[in-house]
Amino acid sequence: MRYQGKEVDIEGRVRLVMESTLTARDRVGVQDFLLLENHNSEAAFIENLRRRFGENLIYTYIGSVLVSVNPYKELEIYSKPQMERYRGVSFYEISPHIYAVSDNTYRAMKITWRDQCILISGESGSGKTEASKKILLYYAVTCPTHDHMTTLGDRLLQSNPVLEAFGNAKTLRNDNSSRFGKYMDVQFDFKGAPVGGHILNYLLEKSRVVHQNHGERNFHIFYQLLDGGSNDLLQTLDLERNPQNYQYLVKGSCSRVSSASDKNNWKVVMNALPVIGFTEEDIQNVLNIIASILHLGNTQFGEGEEGEAHITTETPLANVAKLLGVDASSLSNALTHKKLITKEEEVIIPLNFEQAMSARDALAKAVYGRTFTWLVEKINQSLALKDDMYHSNKAFPVIGLLDIYGFEVLEHNSFEQFCINYCSEKLQQLFIELTLRSEQEEYTTEGIAWEMVPYFDNKIICDLIEEKHKGIISILNEECLRPGETSDASFLEKLEDTLGNHPHFVTHKLANGKTRKVMSREEFRLLHYAGEVNYNVNGFLDKNNDSMNRNLKEVMCQSDNQIISRCFSREEVTDQKRPQMAATHFKNSLLKLMEILMTKEPSYVRCIKPNDAKQPGHFDEVLVRHQVRYLGLMENLRVRRAGFAYRRSFEAFLQRYKPLCPETWPNWDGRLEDGVATLVNYLGYQPEEYKLGRSKIFIHLPKTLFLTEDALQAKKPEIALTLQTSWRGYRERAKYKRIRHAIIVIQSAWRGMKGRRRARRRRQAAELIRRFIKGFIYRHEDYCPENEYFLDHVRYSFLIKLSKNLPTSVLDKSWLASPPSVTEASEHLWKLHMQNMVTKYCNRIQPEWKNQMTQKVVASEIFKDQKDNYPQSVGRLFLDTRIERDQINLKVLQTLGSDKVQYGAPVTKYDRRGFKPRPRQLLLSNTFAVLVDKTKIKQKIDYASLGGISVSSLSDGMVVLHMPTEDNKQKGDVLLHCNHVIELVTKLALIARMLNYINIKPGSIRYAGARGTEGIVDFVRGSELKVAKGKRGHLLVTAPRINTT
Ligand SMILES: Nc1ncnc2c1ncn2[C@@H]1O[C@H](COP(=O)(O)OP(=O)(O)OP(=O)(O)O)[C@@H](O)[C@H]1O
Ligand SMILES: [Mg+2]
Repeated sequence: MRYQGKEVDIEGRVRLVMESTLTARDRVGVQDFLLLENHNSEAAFIENLRRRFGENLIYTYIGSVLVSVNPYKELEIYSKPQMERYRGVSFYEISPHIYAVSDNTYRAMKITWRDQCILISGESGSGKTEASKKILLYYAVTCPTHDHMTTLGDRLLQSNPVLEAFGNAKTLRNDNSSRFGKYMDVQFDFKGAPVGGHILNYLLEKSRVVHQNHGERNFHIFYQLLDGGSNDLLQTLDLERNPQNYQYLVKGSCSRVSSASDKNNWKVVMNALPVIGFTEEDIQNVLNIIASILHLGNTQFGEGEEGEAHITTETPLANVAKLLGVDASSLSNALTHKKLITKEEEVIIPLNFEQAMSARDALAKAVYGRTFTWLVEKINQSLALKDDMYHSNKAFPVIGLLDIYGFEVLEHNSFEQFCINYCSEKLQQLFIELTLRSEQEEYTTEGIAWEMVPYFDNKIICDLIEEKHKGIISILNEECLRPGETSDASFLEKLEDTLGNHPHFVTHKLANGKTRKVMSREEFRLLHYAGEVNYNVNGFLDKNNDSMNRNLKEVMCQSDNQIISRCFSREEVTDQKRPQMAATHFKNSLLKLMEILMTKEPSYVRCIKPNDAKQPGHFDEVLVRHQVRYLGLMENLRVRRAGFAYRRSFEAFLQRYKPLCPETWPNWDGRLEDGVATLVNYLGYQPEEYKLGRSKIFIHLPKTLFLTEDALQAKKPEIALTLQTSWRGYRERAKYKRIRHAIIVIQSAWRGMKGRRRARRRRQAAELIRRFIKGFIYRHEDYCPENEYFLDHVRYSFLIKLSKNLPTSVLDKSWLASPPSVTEASEHLWKLHMQNMVTKYCNRIQPEWKNQMTQKVVASEIFKDQKDNYPQSVGRLFLDTRIERDQINLKVLQTLGSDKVQYGAPVTKYDRRGFKPRPRQLLLSNTFAVLVDKTKIKQKIDYASLGGISVSSLSDGMVVLHMPTEDNKQKGDVLLHCNHVIELVTKLALIARMLNYINIKPGSIRYAGARGTEGIVDFVRGSELKVAKGKRGHLLVTAPRINTT
């Protein structure tokens, strides 16, 4: 054997790996019988079972078949964590368990999308029902749930206690024996969530309603009702709590089951009923029926003189009538009379005591049996796939669960055991069909050289029972239908006549001496595949007929109880056709079941009962051996071992184990078959260890497979590492690529945007420039579209620039040169601005200043551009006066009296003749001016008489006041010199209102002297001021030149 490319000895490392895992898996015995050293030894087989059972390892495989031994005690192996352990894990990786089978089936269903079924078989009490419940629980807990189907799991689980209450009973073999067969389909949607369910029920053991063997009980529900029902409830049902008071409950002399509490179970059932869709009315109707059956059992008969029966107990009958909602007298009549319909007439015949008793029992059985069927239908309605889902996808796969009665051998076996064991035969046949035969056929189709392993084919027994005309069922039916006197004994005779030579059929008459001793004359024996069973023919015909008097049916049809009226239809009474015989009905439903199962992939759970005493820890080897034999487990094992323990399609095998060989890892490109051959070669399989079929590889010993499986496990970390590495690499690369791509996208988008923006800007700029140039060209035109932009821009720029360069003072004459297009506006603006500044300026001026300004304006009007020293005076303020009041002589002031001096200035007066200078004060009042010499007013000049005022245009201070010549008092014009000539003349002009009488002479001023003489004052420019007598007797005034630069 090679492992990781190296030749490894079987004692080598791989072996160590393998053994460690194997030991972990198989601490006790072997977990798979295929690993048994001696696979032909039944003893070794049973020993392995026993050893494992002793260690509470109740599950063992034969390949994929699960063998389960009932532990009869609670084991800690069904918890939720355990379920998790088995989820998605392969069969070989973990110890055998019912969960492994459940999970494997579930996965097979999901992967192949094919219907599956799990067939649970075993004798009564071996744990079939428990196994099926565990499987359901596993699905309910581990499967994903559909949003609106969350309650389906609940309903599936809750249907169990209800079905068990009505369909299970305590028997000698099992305290909770299923007295009906059950096949349940669970439907899954594409997500693997359970979405629907459906139950098929088979042959309820109705006879138990009226009779129980010693130590057995009626169906649980009767005891649960009596024990658990409230006082009020029992009162309304007219029941008493003690089961001993009811004839139908005392036959087995056993009213209690030690292992279960009827009271608790009652609560469970009552809680479950609403969950699975029972209304309060439904529940009441069901309970009425259950109670009515108990009352019916207590209905007793007496015998009249002519042997006709009559009812002796009125109360129970009345209760029955009340509870079933039927007329009491009709019921009473129907129980004691029989209605026969002949061609001509209807005849009512009284029944004798026995007939009446059996009519009553038939009614009880029929009512219970049909109510049970109704119950199953009701549960089916609640589990049904919702209509819309069903129509949207009819192809949802199902997992079927078959929990059907196991092979049963009682002390007295009757019709029911016959049917039950017939069912076992059919299931065994299916098992043979699907495992043993198909296994061997597979070798043939795959072209594998193979020696057939003999196995017992029970077809012969099935034929014995079901064959048309010759089979037991046909003979029984014939006997039931045959006109004339028929009885169970005549049926037995008929059997002997027809089947006398059959190797599997024996009767007392046909038997040899030894057998005869253990058979009564009323029995026939069938040599079932599982063992020999004697059936007592008593009651066969009746039970097969399963008939009820027509008049009883009529009464039931009229019932007020909804369930009863639905179970007994009117057509049944009117229909002349005979209803199907019970055995035929059962046979047909079994055939249908076989058809259902044949279409599905089966998995098997074979249940074994370790002892008859329901004891934990006790392993009865004889009992177990018997079961091992009849379950065909040894044959099953032999075929698996003699053949190949393991087979798998090339594809699946290669897919799983390819990592073990470098040539097949990671992918094999050639033919699958060659790939498998390469792989097994590399692994060092010996030729006797395996065979290659047409499409599958067959491996002889599980050991070989385990070795390979373990090598794979050992290799897994390496594979995981490789996968991780490449996955991480792949992920990072993908991430890098994604980011890179994203960057490129962002970059290009950004660049594109930027480029577009730049292009747009350029376009706009070019456009602008073009408009600008055009505008420039057309700038002298009128405002037009060609130049509007340019001109607007020029204007705008000008206005903006102007706004920043506006003159800030009224004296600032600067103004921005305007472009031609805004000249007019510029001028307006200049005016506005100036006005604005002036207004503001004016508003700011104080009264004194205003006065000053007024004077300055007047001075300007007089002197501007007229007199040389005017500009120098502009900057100097005019004073209010240059001679303060205290500088004026008091006498002078007194002389002036009320005429207030408005202005005074020191002047120099020149004589008109000699031009002698004399210092004087010139004082101006409102109406006249006076010249004052120290204390005396020298001259008073009325303004009214003042003829004019002359000054030179030079920078001197000469002022000539022209006096009227006709005024004798005046000695001629007055020649004055004042340093503040501008100020003085201005004040005088203002006060004397002489504005228009001021002359400014450029070269000389003529003045009038005394007595009509005339003089002249000449003005010249010189270096400094000089007033002196000049040539020709003129007064010569030299005015200093004023430097204007
Ligand atoms: N796995 C188990 N763990 C614990 N107890 C179990 C287990 N299986 C079965 N039992 C016990 O065995 C009893 C009988 O089991 P169950 O009712 O499943 O038998 P059955 O095969 O369905 O019998 P029948 O054919 O009579 O219906 C159960 O009531 C339970 O006490
Ligand atoms: Mg059962």
